[in-house]
Amino acid sequence: MKKVEIHPDAVERIKKFSVNDPQLGFGKYVCPIMVQAIYDNGEWKRFDLLPYGPLSLDPCAKVLHYGQEIFEGMKVFRHPDESIHMFRPEMNARRFNQSARRLSMPEIPEDQFLHACEVICAYSKNAVPRRLGESLYLRPFMIATEVGMGIRPSKQFLFIIIASPSGSYFSGEDVKVYIEREEIRSAPGGIGFAKTGGNYAASLSSYAKTIALGCDQTMWLDAYEHKYIEEMSGMNFFAIIDGALHTPELCDTILDGITRKSIIDIARSSGLQVHERRISIDEVLAAAKEDRCHEAFVCGTAAVIAPVASFMDKDKSVVKLKEPHGKIGMQLREKLIDMQSGRAPAPAGWLHSVPNLNF
Ligand code: COI
Repeated sequence: MKKVEIHPDAVERIKKFSVNDPQLGFGKYVCPIMVQAIYDNGEWKRFDLLPYGPLSLDPCAKVLHYGQEIFEGMKVFRHPDESIHMFRPEMNARRFNQSARRLSMPEIPEDQFLHACEVICAYSKNAVPRRLGESLYLRPFMIATEVGMGIRPSKQFLFIIIASPSGSYFSGEDVKVYIEREEIRSAPGGIGFAKTGGNYAASLSSYAKTIALGCDQTMWLDAYEHKYIEEMSGMNFFAIIDGALHTPELCDTILDGITRKSIIDIARSSGLQVHERRISIDEVLAAAKEDRCHEAFVCGTAAVIAPVASFMDKDKSVVKLKEPHGKIGMQLREKLIDMQSGRAPAPAGWLHSVPNLNF
């Protein structure tokens, strides 16, 4: 494993950094340091902690033309005793490498990925928020930097981690969902399970339509029948039907959400039934109308858990949920946040503590 080399300018920059804003928002502030690693000639050459700054890219860099790019989203929490912990970062490391394989990019050994995350967290320790519900959001990403217009996998890459002291992704309103019945986000055999920019780019025209219609999030359906719920692009989906949690089962068109997995684990250990299965949107709408589904929510690292207020269909008809502020979802949210922030014990292995450095 290569140690991250610490540049004195980066240390000077982070020492002077502080954020004093009652509304942190999501991604509004970024720590003035970043980890950067260079891949060339079949190996990761070096890892550095540098001052945050613009990248210099050749206009022919492959990422700019062919979208060879992947990323992760992960959170870091300050506990009441001031210790700093990453939440399940091993799962991000694993998923990053799954995305890398699908996008024909080099993997980063898990211990190397974790070490790089630990370093930026350790140096950003003063930027990890104290308020409940806030955290330091890490965004590791990799881009193809080889110069050339030929369509083939790049041989050179940059890996970067930036860190953002963040609050909630949503403004607090319950989420109004627009059901996308025409466009698709991903098809079997495609890249839907990978955390790569292309999946998010594919969602944007529908997102614009969603917003124009007064909704907040697009719900994606399966590519063949345009019938089965997949995900929300950036979030997974749960509905509570007849008192049990139902969520689409994973397949290669759905991102394997770490928050999704954690919710399933917490729900099961709280005695709730969880069904991972194919769920048609029409089943959810019918259950809502029949008073069997009062509650649904979306979840993700950035979003945590946000209750769904309503579903709008292609013909603009709206089905509202009876329990928009979602009791079960809110209880799960509280349990998850309590575990992440050290207010309640978390299952073994969920918290990865960050060394306390003096610098
Ligand atoms: C995350 O939840 O970390 C994500 O990456 C989704 C994002 C697009 C906000």
